[in-house]
Amino acid sequence: MVWIIQALKEEDEPFLWEMLYQALYLPEGQAPLPREVIYLPELARYVQDWGSDGDCGFMVIDFLTEKPVGAVWLRLLTRNNKGYGYVDDDTPELGIAVFPEYRGQGIGTQLLTHLLESPCGQSSISLSVSIDNPAVSLYKRFGFEVVSRSDESLLMKRDCQILKPG
Ligand SMILES: CC(C)(COP(=O)(O)OP(=O)(O)OC[C@H]1O[C@@H](n2cnc3c(N)ncnc32)[C@H](O)[C@@H]1OP(=O)(O)O)[C@@H](O)C(=O)NCCC(=O)NCCS
Repeated sequence: MVWIIQALKEEDEPFLWEMLYQALYLPEGQAPLPREVIYLPELARYVQDWGSDGDCGFMVIDFLTEKPVGAVWLRLLTRNNKGYGYVDDDTPELGIAVFPEYRGQGIGTQLLTHLLESPCGQSSISLSVSIDNPAVSLYKRFGFEVVSRSDESLLMKRDCQILKPG
């Protein structure tokens, strides 16, 4: 497959809502969640009003069909509007998803590589991931480290200082 990566713009918000739904990890055999779940405040805060100050992200487009098939994005969620991956008011949280039929082909790896090489301005990135999600090994490969854990999830963080010039 050939794909193109491009920056997420304000008008890509509808696609990002879809990606938010696709980013919800379900252990094998579990029934799909109702689509409305993404409008719960604790999830909607990752996408609502996309294009606000500090938002930064990329989508991947299938070159043949010209359809977007995945995205990675950062949003700064501060103390009064915390996400699941909150560590402090300066660390944006990461969201990532690829449509199921496109997973396991290296797209997630490409998206993360692109994001981490881009001048999004963050000095660190955090995320929350289910303990049994295979994405944990992807994050570890990219230098994310476990900050804390609960019975079900890991809070992970990656320092980005190394990417800053000077
Ligand atoms: C996680 C995800 C974005 C990775 O994208 P991808 O295109 O499948 O990633 P790659 O093909 O580059 O594979 C990278 C890793 O993802 C893992 N992976 C592969 N298929 C996967 C799948 N169907 N579901 C979850 N992870 C998968 C692989 O184990 C691989 O691990 P490795 O780094 O140890 O080799 C994608 O699989 C996905 O959308 N999963 C469901 C949503 C999700 O879990 N999002 C993260 C929430 S914290």
